[in-house]
Amino acid sequence: MRLDGKTALITGAARGIGRAFAEAYVREGATVAIGDINLDAAQKTAAEIGPAAHAVRLDVTDQASIDAAVAECVATMGHIDILINNAALFDAAPIADITRASYDRLFAVNVAGTLFTLQAVAKQMIARGKGGKIINMASQAGRRGESLVAVYCATKAAVISLTQSAGLNLIAHGINVNAIAPGVVDGEHWNGVDALFAKFEGKPLGQKKHEVGAAVPFGRMGTAADLTGMAIFLATAEADYIVAQTYNVDGGNWMS
Ligand SMILES: NC(=O)c1ccc[n+]([C@@H]2O[C@H](COP(=O)([O-])OP(=O)(O)OC[C@H]3O[C@@H](n4cnc5c(N)ncnc54)[C@H](O)[C@@H]3O)[C@@H](O)[C@H]2O)c1
Repeated sequence: MRLDGKTALITGAARGIGRAFAEAYVREGATVAIGDINLDAAQKTAAEIGPAAHAVRLDVTDQASIDAAVAECVATMGHIDILINNAALFDAAPIADITRASYDRLFAVNVAGTLFTLQAVAKQMIARGKGGKIINMASQAGRRGESLVAVYCATKAAVISLTQSAGLNLIAHGINVNAIAPGVVDGEHWNGVDALFAKFEGKPLGQKKHEVGAAVPFGRMGTAADLTGMAIFLATAEADYIVAQTYNVDGGNWMS
């Protein structure tokens, strides 16, 4: 039990990778708050995980919602030892078709949502004086541009940059800020990505998934379970000396 007695807030954990993190953290002995804009789904997920998980209403684009969710976590769990900034949105379009609405929404969720949730939780960690662990979800998309994915790639590059600055600033308080950069991870999220590529590249549904999986040096797309080991490790004392880093967990897609 590597996270025995620890408390965690995981944003966007109603489904997908965040849900897998919540399940893994509970298996390791943690109590987990599943923060999501979709409260019904978060409640269902929490009920399926068991009594060590509970749902929290959270819209990371809304400061009042962030503050209320952090206050609720402190009220129910006592404090927050670990934050995983996992909530994010994806979109794709050729440069000529990018809309301001898409740009504003992706930056609001993926960048401002990450920064201001991190800030609210870091304030609680600083006031408590016992440090903490913050893990941001970046992406291989933040390592380089992609022809049809300009905005999402830019948001994830910003997450890597925020991880570096926040990591340097908060380590003085014993708070480790690091990030995970997955490659292509199968699940509901990627079904939506596949549909967007089908539209813009004229491919049958499922074709893009097949192509990206075949291109991974490991030989297949990732699964959420492929990421849980890094998410657990970064939350333990064994990672105390790791500061402001972004780790690729992508089957060999990107090397840094
Ligand atoms: N799936 C992949 O291939 C992949 C690859 C690289 C990085 N990532 C990153 O991993 C993380 C998880 O991805 P996923 O595939 O599980 O995504 P997902 O779309 O399956 O889940 C995202 C969750 O975030 C929630 N959410 C959306 N907007 C929110 C808001 N404003 N406030 C709170 N919650 C909100 C959604 O309700 C959903 O439960 C994301 O940061 C994503 O960018 C995913």
